[in-house]
Amino acid sequence: MIPLNETLAAGPKKRVVVLLSGDGSNLQALLDKEPDYHYQVVGVISNVPGAYGLERARQHRVAALELDHRVFSSRTAFDQRLVVEVNRFEPDLVVLAGYMRILSPEFVEQFAGRLINIHPSLLPDYKGLGTYRRVLADHKTRHGCTVHYVTPELDSGSNILQASLEIKPTDNEESLKRRVKTMEHQVYPLAVHLITSGRLQLQKNRVALDRQLLDPLGYQLKEDSLELE
Ligand code: GRF
Repeated sequence: MIPLNETLAAGPKKRVVVLLSGDGSNLQALLDKEPDYHYQVVGVISNVPGAYGLERARQHRVAALELDHRVFSSRTAFDQRLVVEVNRFEPDLVVLAGYMRILSPEFVEQFAGRLINIHPSLLPDYKGLGTYRRVLADHKTRHGCTVHYVTPELDSGSNILQASLEIKPTDNEESLKRRVKTMEHQVYPLAVHLITSGRLQLQKNRVALDRQLLDPLGYQLKEDSLELE
């Protein structure tokens, strides 16, 4: 098996646009890993004015665009403009990183097969918000994050990769979130790299790595073996 973070790709790095609504710690991880990986973040768009993720982009000299959804008359109108703005960056891949707004089917259709998201649960379990609280309330033993392709139905596209951890008896919402985010910051740049370097492909609804179809849950990584660097 070829090491996961091996760069086999030739040619120019692929163009990535990031959509976010908040802090942007995943954007930061993507930016930090750029030198090692086969992508370049060429634009960041936030639907929330003043989102800190925009500041992170500017500090990295990446174009940052604020597009306040509240000034549009409808979701469709906003998403139509969003399509235009995303396309201006000529992206190979559109990456959702804490983008807290449901996308219209029309938007998703425009970028089908080149639109991905990271979600803080082991999908298909715990779609939607409040995953840490719900997992703890259910006394689960494992939690984690999933990188997946985006389809119009919320948190439901094909899984690309999952990173999981064992929940400790001492974990609370805060600690669990911190541990999962640490994994997110490692695996999201890796997943983007695998796609942009051509190693990972979507074949109908299944994901293949180095031409081998993956399990429907996606490539599996564990917190204690996340030695990616
Ligand atoms: C992450 O937990 C991600 O899983 C979810 O939104 C959060 C974004 O965090 N989709 P940040 O803004 O990247 O810090």
